Amino acid sequence: MSTPLSIIIVGASGDLTSRKLVPALYGLYRKGRLPAEARIVGVSRSDFTADSFRQHLAKEFREIAPKEFDSAKWEKFAPLIEYVRGDAADPTKLQALVDWLKKREGGQPANRLYYLSVAPELYERIANSLAAVGLNKEDGGFRRVVIEKPFGRNLATAVALNHALHRNWEESQIYRIDHYMGKETVQNILVLRFANLFFEPLWNRRYIDHVQITVAEKLDVGRRGPTYESIGVLRDIFQNHLLQILTLVAMEPATRFDAVSLRNEKLKVLEAVAVPNVQEACINVSVGQYIGYRQTDGVARDSHIPTFAAIRLDIDNWRWQGVPFYLRSGKALKERRSDVVIQFRPPPHLMFKLTPGEMLANNRLVLRIQPDEGIQLHFESKDPEVPEGMLLHNSTMQFSFATEYGAGAIPEAYERLLLDAVNGDATLFMRYDEIERAWAILDPLIAAVEQADAAPPQQYEPHTWGPACADEMLKRDGREWQND
Ligand code: BG6
Repeated sequence: MSTPLSIIIVGASGDLTSRKLVPALYGLYRKGRLPAEARIVGVSRSDFTADSFRQHLAKEFREIAPKEFDSAKWEKFAPLIEYVRGDAADPTKLQALVDWLKKREGGQPANRLYYLSVAPELYERIANSLAAVGLNKEDGGFRRVVIEKPFGRNLATAVALNHALHRNWEESQIYRIDHYMGKETVQNILVLRFANLFFEPLWNRRYIDHVQITVAEKLDVGRRGPTYESIGVLRDIFQNHLLQILTLVAMEPATRFDAVSLRNEKLKVLEAVAVPNVQEACINVSVGQYIGYRQTDGVARDSHIPTFAAIRLDIDNWRWQGVPFYLRSGKALKERRSDVVIQFRPPPHLMFKLTPGEMLANNRLVLRIQPDEGIQLHFESKDPEVPEGMLLHNSTMQFSFATEYGAGAIPEAYERLLLDAVNGDATLFMRYDEIERAWAILDPLIAAVEQADAAPPQQYEPHTWGPACADEMLKRDGREWQND
């Protein structure tokens, strides 16, 4: 008989469960990738029965992804979902879960994945209380805990949280998740760089002028006002998603694609990122807030929380010395678009005579993370319309995931990560030291924005590319954001 597997979602009544986790588990089920022995059990303080919990999930799922929701398949999937009422932050209120697991596992070795889909301030208490009732003890089967972001709110709190977790859980049992690492296009950065020969010889300070990494969202903060007020864009997106992408763009090739080798290389990049001093931090961060944010429910009418930020980071190593990495992200921007722009230098000498007003557009490689997932290479070609001399024309070569693999081929990022956690593959999850180093880099930038006499974030019109100060920051360096 196969070992029973329980995926225990703590905080099961929340949005993440209904909008991301359950649709991802359903996606795995539909594709035949969810192990047959898996059961999903939701735990929260809400008063659901198993049936009403399933109905609640189905309703939310149908609302957010009507195309993916297939009633007949859902009817088959739904019986795999159970519900147990309990307060996971209090060990005395976990008896129902303990009993449920005992009954399900029948005293045999069993595998359990605990997913903490809860407010960040509860991670430590819940991890402790699971341990207090022995739910962390392995019995021949595994016990793993998945921790969502944000992991801490600065270096000190992240270190404290790591210490607290390590009291009851081995590092190998802890899966710190960043859903950007589950995106196919983010993983494809590694394939592009290290499974091809074309790009890698050029991937350094000799040929690259600078790198831009953007995570732009068209949506505003919506219903998340109260949470967002305590986080802001730097903690929400930069410490995790943007820095993770940066590590993949900038790292050296790992020996193997496994948890130890890959995470060692990512950590080396983070260690080489220069931690700005106070003056540098003030110069290298620009923040904005969209007009209308302060009218959001749960947001202070005089809030200084940035909904947009742009930063410059420098990597002090042999490959990247002198190549700035510009990172930006914001809510209520002109479009939803995440990408990496590798801007190459101009050729050292141009034999062609440019006509007055003609500009040479230097080579640019754009890795489109979402939407329109793909890769674009911008280069010069000869314009055949002109019979004499050479007229240069900026042209584009395109690679599109949809064309190559079919529309809808890209799965939800959580599918991959949930499956990896079940399979014990931590390659795409954050190790404790990566998280801590990422905070060490961000802390001075956040301090520069949050210090008492800091200027408030510059207001920007929704559905634009953000505040003027972000453009000025690049202009000072003689560069500009690629918005097209
Ligand atoms: C989350 C942030 O981690 O990522 C959200 O907390 C943000 O604020 C979301 O909207 C963006 O994710 P995606 O996958 O839609 O780009």
